[in-house]
Amino acid sequence: MIIMKATAKANTNIALIKYWGKRDETLFLPMNSSLSITLDHFNTITTVEFCKSFDKDIFLLNNLPASDKESNKVFRFLDKVRNLAGVNLHAVVSSENKVPTAAGFASSASGFAALAAAAAKALDLELNTKEISILARQGSGSACRSVYGGYVEWKKGIQEDGKDSFASQLLSEQDWKISILSVLVAGEQKKVSSREGMKRTVETSPFYAGWLQTVEKDLEDAKEAIMSREFEKLGHVVEANALKMHATMLGAKPPVLYWQSGTMDVIHHIQYLRLTGIPVFFTIDAGSNVKVLCLPKDEAIVYESLLTLPTVQKVFICHPGSGITYLE
Ligand code: PMV
Repeated sequence: MIIMKATAKANTNIALIKYWGKRDETLFLPMNSSLSITLDHFNTITTVEFCKSFDKDIFLLNNLPASDKESNKVFRFLDKVRNLAGVNLHAVVSSENKVPTAAGFASSASGFAALAAAAAKALDLELNTKEISILARQGSGSACRSVYGGYVEWKKGIQEDGKDSFASQLLSEQDWKISILSVLVAGEQKKVSSREGMKRTVETSPFYAGWLQTVEKDLEDAKEAIMSREFEKLGHVVEANALKMHATMLGAKPPVLYWQSGTMDVIHHIQYLRLTGIPVFFTIDAGSNVKVLCLPKDEAIVYESLLTLPTVQKVFICHPGSGITYLE
């Protein structure tokens, strides 16, 4: 009997220039290009097995049946892979998530990157990395960047079929080592998903036009800074881009506010550390947690000082990490 089974591992990524807004909801085509660092922490390992004898799809998350909502996202994604392969076999998907989802860190990027790679390999699709990126994008936009390690750009593309909307690597994880501290702040879980938050912003925020007018320039500046390893130049554009993304959501109807008081505490603390002469910057995705960027030489001092804030629960120290790997 032919075994149609494969296992892949993907790391999550943190956006430096954000993807915010879709121009096509079904194909997950973005309104703007974006840029991220794949991290060496927080991964998802996924095994996909297709078999003629399975009469339905099953999704196990950390060895337990996943919720209907999570399972349906995975099953809809499997439909796309089955379509591509021209088969209609059911599958068992088993994911081990090393991203602390309960702690509010996003897992969709590593989740769909690992799922795309494992499902395509299980069905012997022989996709190259660009094609896996295009496939992963259709599970969660940010997942198309986790296919690669290091510093990664996702070009939005202009085609309607999305074939020119995929990620590529700017620098590998070995090329430039910086430190990314993932800061978990106290407070409630987020109530609005990134999917809903960006949709509402595109449809209702008067500030969204300003985002679109300026984000490609932010991206160019960030790329230049990365290619010339200019940390401070990168930090300034990254921080401003994150604040600008959150400003577009504050203008949505109803407004979307992801920040908790702990988020503000970290923002102020980073600004204070900068005044003391340490080059340190922050960025925030669609949630309350903050990612802090600094140079490896300042990592320990920044880590210790963040832990003194009463609203900071935990700090995870990360560095640039690898793209997809296949496991036996
Ligand atoms: O692809 P999603 O649905 O995980 O959305 C990602 C949105 C942000 O994290 C806020 C920005 C980004 O580019 O990752």
